[in-house]
Amino acid sequence: MRPLTVIGNWKMNGSIAGNAIWIEAVCSEMEKGMPAGRRYGVCPPYPFLAQCGGLIQSCSLAPLSLGAQDVSAEQLGPFTGEVSAAMLSEFGCTYVLVGHSERRDRYNESDQLVAEKALQVLDHGMTPIICVGETADERNSGRAVEVVRGQVAKQVAILQDRLADSLIAYEPVWAIGTGKVASAQIAQDMHREIRLQLAEFDADVASHVGILYGGSVKPDNAVELFAMPDIDGGLIGGASLDPQEFLAICRA
Ligand code: 13P
Repeated sequence: MRPLTVIGNWKMNGSIAGNAIWIEAVCSEMEKGMPAGRRYGVCPPYPFLAQCGGLIQSCSLAPLSLGAQDVSAEQLGPFTGEVSAAMLSEFGCTYVLVGHSERRDRYNESDQLVAEKALQVLDHGMTPIICVGETADERNSGRAVEVVRGQVAKQVAILQDRLADSLIAYEPVWAIGTGKVASAQIAQDMHREIRLQLAEFDADVASHVGILYGGSVKPDNAVELFAMPDIDGGLIGGASLDPQEFLAICRA
């Protein structure tokens, strides 16, 4: 059985004072008890990892893990502005997002680079969350499956059976931050497609890899999405900034 996984991606939001309020609100509720067999994580911006990691550690009963939003594909050295997987591991990260569409689009990240980043994350004992998804134009021209298959194919080619220790997030670009959530059936169809593609490589890997949905997930649509057989949780942007909304999605 694949555990349901809910990850908050704060993107470039947060502040020292606001983070403390968020972690205290979420952890104190989580310590009262959460549905069994689920995993939860939050990905603050890099400068807040130490603060958020420390606060999460001090509420040891809350089942909340720390994650990062990106990582360098390099190990160490003259790469100004980059952050290595070894550093993220030292800060206690469990999850690392790679290939978010905002990075693919604005910083020209290729499938090759995304896979190299995922390898760094795996080499340091953390779980990469590999983001894939098509744009509105690609969907409207009937190429959604082809585009997502192309993105997944590169990950399969490079990561091979190490994919079993990864998560994939299907985030249609047209649904991110737009309020236009993919219908549960559209999301399920693409998740199924991704799982079938993984099965062409290895049936065991396909049955193990959690595939999360991301894009305008809110408390009122999470229940239907998470009930789908190939949707194994969510990657939550805007709604994860509000502790009560995030908790409601975690319980969905
Ligand atoms: P929204 O939930 O704000 O649409 O963002 C989704 C996302 O990009 C999570 O990584």
